[in-house]
Amino acid sequence: MKENILEVKNLVKTYKINSPSPVRALRGVDFFCKEGEFVGLMGRSGSGKSTFLHQLALLDIPTLGSIKITGVDVLKLTQGQKAVFRLKTLGYIFQDYALIPELNLYENIALPMMALGISKSRYHKDVVEIINRVGLGGRENNLPSELSGGEQQRVSIARAIINKPKILFADEPTANLDSESAFVVMELMRELVDKHGQTIIMVTHEEDDEKYLDRIVHLKDGKIK
Ligand SMILES: Nc1ncnc2c1ncn2[C@@H]1O[C@H](COP(=O)(O)OP(=O)(O)O)[C@@H](O)[C@H]1O
Ligand SMILES: [Mg+2]
Repeated sequence: MKENILEVKNLVKTYKINSPSPVRALRGVDFFCKEGEFVGLMGRSGSGKSTFLHQLALLDIPTLGSIKITGVDVLKLTQGQKAVFRLKTLGYIFQDYALIPELNLYENIALPMMALGISKSRYHKDVVEIINRVGLGGRENNLPSELSGGEQQRVSIARAIINKPKILFADEPTANLDSESAFVVMELMRELVDKHGQTIIMVTHEEDDEKYLDRIVHLKDGKIK
């Protein structure tokens, strides 16, 4: 039996915006995930999927609850420790790719390594290898605006896995893609799980994606059904 790589207990997120009624986006979520599992997160728009992923990936601070990743109680870390933990242990694929428009493909992918202060001589080989793995060899100098949506999403995947993250989070990574690009992206993600033992938690609406998943979890009104 593989160990839980992620354990979430009673996760609550309430957005206290300038309104009389706060938004209770997560209402006490318990969740776990084993190493090497490919988990799909489904639910209607507004059910709290993105909010959940943001909390797990340390992009936001929950109102209540606990999150353990590789046994580390991550909400107890300082801001600086969290940033380093995120860069070393986690990867995140955004629906809208979130690439830096001024940086070329190579630089976008190398960004997490640069942020960790690692010298180019140490990451160059890995960046080249990953560019080839996502099928973008020869496009190193292209800016994001010179790439198709499917190609940009593959750059965003490459950037999310350059640090060999223990857990990869993906928020509707195929939602903006044509079916051929979506196929390439899903095959790539499945390969990460099968060949590299990566753990992936992915939000999806697409029925086509279901066959790639090991398990599906449904969110409804900020709770797991
Ligand atoms: N930054 C925010 N501030 C206030 N409310 C938010 C914020 N982000 C999300 N929400 C609200 O939280 C609820 C869950 O949103 P979200 O997690 O984006 O759902 P999903 O990804 O499932 O569509 C929605 O009611 C949404 O309007
Ligand atoms: Mg969402």
